[in-house]
Amino acid sequence: MRIRQRPANGPGAPAASGWRLALVGPAVLVGVVMVVFGVLFWTLPAPAQTKPVRTDPASIAAGETLYDLHCSACHGIGGVGAKGPPLLGVGPAAVDFFLSTGRMPLASPNDEPVSGPPFFNPDQIADIVAYINYVDTVHGTPGPGIPDVTPPCDVETASCPTLSEGNSLFLLNCAQCHDASGAGGMLSHGYVVPSLRQATPTQIAEAIRIGPRPMPNFGPGQFTNQQVSAIADYITYLVHTKNPGGLGIAYFGPVPEGFVAIIFGLGVLLLVSRFIGNRG
Ligand code: HEC
Ligand code: HEC
Repeated sequence: MRIRQRPANGPGAPAASGWRLALVGPAVLVGVVMVVFGVLFWTLPAPAQTKPVRTDPASIAAGETLYDLHCSACHGIGGVGAKGPPLLGVGPAAVDFFLSTGRMPLASPNDEPVSGPPFFNPDQIADIVAYINYVDTVHGTPGPGIPDVTPPCDVETASCPTLSEGNSLFLLNCAQCHDASGAGGMLSHGYVVPSLRQATPTQIAEAIRIGPRPMPNFGPGQFTNQQVSAIADYITYLVHTKNPGGLGIAYFGPVPEGFVAIIFGLGVLLLVSRFIGNRG
């Protein structure tokens, strides 16, 4: 039997072991850094998921009084439904969204809920949310809570949303209806897709979770809380940026933009050709 001998100083042999040795230092360093970061993130407080809902009896009672006066005619005593849909199980996000965007209370059950100035002040809204949440809890499990939006960070980490993450999620999931500029548009069946300029970060996050009327909802299976924050942060940034680039044209979206480009471009070309023609 022949034993294969490694060449004592064949090409590469000592070099290879030196190469391996040289790797040990950086490997240990990377390991230490990973452990340090792991411990850091483990001990960092987890981002709050939802805003607390009032549970004290005084708030619930105040909410019940407001509810009986302004909502029960359509949504029934205790939220069981009447001329309007039942509110059992809708959850704090839906109630807060419909009230804070002024969609509710309707004047007539056949009216279209549209956004506008809210009918109630924030304190009254919190009380009505508390009451419906209380009724929901008695009957079973309330729907989604009011999301607590985390502000954006420059660098994406495990507990921090970024604008670039929000940008890509927005373009993939929302822009087809709301336009890449957030200006809104139209859906089939005559539904108006509202502009996103008025919505607060909380209202945006609520809309994502509940999907008001023709809008689809995106549950925790589709977006994590951090992704919801990223989208809300990005939209807020987008609609409040002074000049997102290009001509504003009242942010009406791609069709008028193209139209203006054609009319304006053709006009300039016409003038230029006339000018050349006159000189010739
Ligand atoms: C005049 C009737 C009317 C009144 C008053 C009214 N609502 Fe509504 N509400 C409706 C109708 C109708 C809908 C369904 C709208 C739709 O889907 O087109 C609705 C929908 C809602 C929804 C969404 C339900 C869901 O399943 O997503 C919430 C939440 C809500 N109302 C809360 C309230 C609260 C709280 C009040 C009292 C402050 C109130 N509404 C007053 C008629 C009314
Ligand atoms: C299929 C089309 C569609 C898609 C996709 C869609 N929306 Fe909507 N959205 C709507 C419509 C329609 C309404 C109006 C609902 C109503 O008035 O009840 C709306 C309402 C809203 C509102 C309330 C605005 C206000 O001020 O009243 C917000 C915020 C919103 N959407 C955000 C989003 C976000 C964020 C996404 C992506 C994650 C998204 N939407 C995806 C159609 C859509």
